[in-house]
Amino acid sequence: MTDQTDHSRRNFLYVAAGGLGAVAGAATAVPFLGSMLPAADTLAAATTEFDVATVAVGQMVVITWQGKPVFVTHRTPELLAQLDGQDDQLKDPNSESIEAVSAEWMKTAEQRKTRSIKPEYLIAIASCTHLGCIPLYKPSKGRTEWGDSVPSDWQGGWHCPCHNSLYDLSARVVKGSPAPDNLHVMPYKYTGDTTVVIG
Ligand code: FES
Repeated sequence: MTDQTDHSRRNFLYVAAGGLGAVAGAATAVPFLGSMLPAADTLAAATTEFDVATVAVGQMVVITWQGKPVFVTHRTPELLAQLDGQDDQLKDPNSESIEAVSAEWMKTAEQRKTRSIKPEYLIAIASCTHLGCIPLYKPSKGRTEWGDSVPSDWQGGWHCPCHNSLYDLSARVVKGSPAPDNLHVMPYKYTGDTTVVIG
């Protein structure tokens, strides 16, 4: 295990379905018998309810939705400020790709920058749009913690070590990355101050 891996583990937690406020509609248990597995259409219709207030300030957790890992990140005002001034380094700074448009709530310029309904909470599929690895969360500016795995002017975000794709703190992909697209943002809604239903 590398030193960088140790650091990345400090910044996020994996949250099992049903734990720490996560309630996965169709993902609470994985039966051992194939005949008992949920049908594909049942899984596709499943929603996940999650209390984002359980994510500590500045931290990230991974939950599951429809069998996929999902990042839930609690951004500080300082982390949100790190989104500014980098549009010319991003492939799709305004989230205009088909995946972004599928999140119907994403309409204003601010929502397209923060890629969230409530700016402090980013919720995105934890799958690199290149070949599907799970990127590492590296929110710190510069190379202080991360060495040359990130550029010297790194503003914080995610690094996919499989083939070196980079994403900013709104999971927008950085130019030069093999990943073609921003991390996908799925439909979700708030049903309470801090309760979201994904899907
Ligand atoms: S899978 Fe992420 S860069 Fe290739």
